[in-house]
Amino acid sequence: MWKNIVAAPADSILGLTDAFRKDPSPQKVNLGVGVYKDDAGRTPILECVKAAEKILLENESTKSYLPISGDPAYAASVQKLIFGETSEVLVNKRAATVHAPGGTGALRVGADLLKKFKPEARLWISSPTWANHKGVFTTAGFELGEYTYYDPATKSVDFAGMVKCLKAIPAGDIVLLHACCHNPSGVDLDNDQWSEVVAIAQKQGWLPFLDFAYQGFGEGVEEDRYAVEQFAATGLDFFIASSFSKNFGLYNERTGALTIVSPTAEESIVAMSHLKTVVRVIYSNPPAHGGLVAATILGDPLLYKQWLGELAAMRERIVAMRTALVDGLNARGVAGDFSYIKKQRGMFSFSGLSDTTVAWLREHKNIYVVGGGRINLAGLTSKNIDYVCDAIAEALKA
Ligand code: LMR
Repeated sequence: MWKNIVAAPADSILGLTDAFRKDPSPQKVNLGVGVYKDDAGRTPILECVKAAEKILLENESTKSYLPISGDPAYAASVQKLIFGETSEVLVNKRAATVHAPGGTGALRVGADLLKKFKPEARLWISSPTWANHKGVFTTAGFELGEYTYYDPATKSVDFAGMVKCLKAIPAGDIVLLHACCHNPSGVDLDNDQWSEVVAIAQKQGWLPFLDFAYQGFGEGVEEDRYAVEQFAATGLDFFIASSFSKNFGLYNERTGALTIVSPTAEESIVAMSHLKTVVRVIYSNPPAHGGLVAATILGDPLLYKQWLGELAAMRERIVAMRTALVDGLNARGVAGDFSYIKKQRGMFSFSGLSDTTVAWLREHKNIYVVGGGRINLAGLTSKNIDYVCDAIAEALKA
């Protein structure tokens, strides 16, 4: 069957992890995939997760199927986390949530559902966006459009350009927005800019689809939900794909959720019925463990507090690495102003490194960076920071 078929290229992010694993060099550094590492270079299991798993292990009584939409306690906890406990959306039962296998699973469930009811719609992504967005939505059959987002000259959002594009998107189309910690650029809209985007969505009548994979990695779980709150306040239909890979460190438990917000509770019931039909034909019902862990933590005040502390520690370590990188480059006299790296939020920095430099770093220094120059700051540690700064300084002088 495969004799005359050319092999597919490696995935631009996860393929890099495969190459990193195979690299025998002791000096290798992985600044590619968006996975948190502590200062010892490990991706730890959070203490609150360990505690929740202990509770689950003691109390678990069955491995029977979950409902198609997942554990109801999980869906309720997800809604509290993404909207806030006292949100009107919860009071009025305007949200339908299914447990999806990771943020990617949530995007794909949303994509398949949207294709069913909006077969002619175009889906708009930011320029640039997470590489897998393109694959998920084109595979679901969407034609993609790109709206202006990042300006490499100013290393910030080209908001005037973005507004111009968003105002030209017709009613019925779908606009994918990063709710916080834009991946790959690390530059976010401020609150006033979000209000403007929400007003445009209302006026134009396009459907917002928020990718919310990094709640808590920007400023904090409450601050980072600003965009979600603003869209919720409009009473419009919109979609949210959440992921708990990063903020709970549940990467391999594939713990995400798709939430559809509708204007009324009646419409929300209809949305849920169709969500279930989409899930049933892809994976039938979700894996249980990660969702139960998240629900246990979110439903227990002490574990919740512990989680917020552990999340803050991850966020703060990344911020410290931003400063260390900028200081390290400045100390080596590398030409240019790198202060923008400190202003970016979340796990990533669009470092400004060219693809030639990225290739050089991999070939000569065993440092792995995603094409386009996206650096995962969490891959930096007090042990490798000097090595990385030396390597970048050498690359830029070469
Ligand atoms: C990333 O952007 O590196 C992460 O979201 C992991 C992935 O699946 O690409």
